[in-house]
Amino acid sequence: MLSSLITITTLLALSNAQSWVPSGDLPVDFTLTFSAPEMVYDVCNRNFTQSARTFTVATTGVAVTPGETANDPTAMTITGASSGDMFTILMVDPDTPSANVGTTEKPLLHMIITNITNADPSTGAVLDPYRGPMPPPCSGDHTYHYLLLRQTAALSLTVDDLPTYTPDCSLANLAGQCLFEVANFISSNQLTPVGYVTMVAATDGYVRYNYVNDRGMSEADSCRGLDGYDPCPTAPPGSSSEKVMVSVSTVMATAWCLLYFIVNY
Ligand SMILES: *[C@@H]1O[C@H](CO)[C@@H](O)[C@H](O)[C@H]1NC(C)=O
Ligand SMILES: *[C@@H]1O[C@H](CO)[C@@H](O)[C@H](O)[C@H]1NC(C)=O
Repeated sequence: MLSSLITITTLLALSNAQSWVPSGDLPVDFTLTFSAPEMVYDVCNRNFTQSARTFTVATTGVAVTPGETANDPTAMTITGASSGDMFTILMVDPDTPSANVGTTEKPLLHMIITNITNADPSTGAVLDPYRGPMPPPCSGDHTYHYLLLRQTAALSLTVDDLPTYTPDCSLANLAGQCLFEVANFISSNQLTPVGYVTMVAATDGYVRYNYVNDRGMSEADSCRGLDGYDPCPTAPPGSSSEKVMVSVSTVMATAWCLLYFIVNY
């Protein structure tokens, strides 16, 4: 019975991915402010208008658009820290549609700022500059996670160290960014999560415009999912519907093992 309990616990732990997401009440408030100008993106034979908006990301699940978060946050604040604390800010996207770019456990890196002192992010060293959301068409909602991590001391990391945390990254143009080992980064550098916010974005006119004009994507691909263009495939890799299917099969496999052990031991 004990061995079956251990096995069951292990199975449940394996199915509970994203081990690096902090849980419970965290002691420090971290916020980001974005200030987006009004913009019009002319792509896919239509104009996408983005209204001017200034807003703050201070909780989890804040809905934003890629266009209005394309530029660096205009402010980041850290409130409730002890004086003398040093921090690292990490931003990642675990919802990329390509498993070569990011996965739940090894997301795509979007930003690292380290050695922050005086609770002032502008004092930090930018190891990886902010890159805003770029959720490809038909890849559903992406959650962008920001972790505020307390350091035990100044970190001697450099940009050259980042590939250490992306050993499985096979894409040369994303070396040091794709398949970023968040859990390893946190434990190797003795970091403690003390603040956490997330923002959620799906593709928009800015992304479609950018993919066509700056990244050479075909208009057919970048306009997919809009009226008059190809519809989205029913379950593209990494899409939310595929994730639901994967979760259902994980739950069923776990339930099956559970039943097997209860019946046999
Ligand atoms: C988009 O807006 C521009 C400028 O206002 C206009 O010239 C153009 O015709 C518009 N395009 C479409 C497809 O409506
Ligand atoms: C962090 O601070 C330490 C001590 O001042 C310094 O040696 C190190 O280079 C800094 N890290 C970065 C990324 O600048």
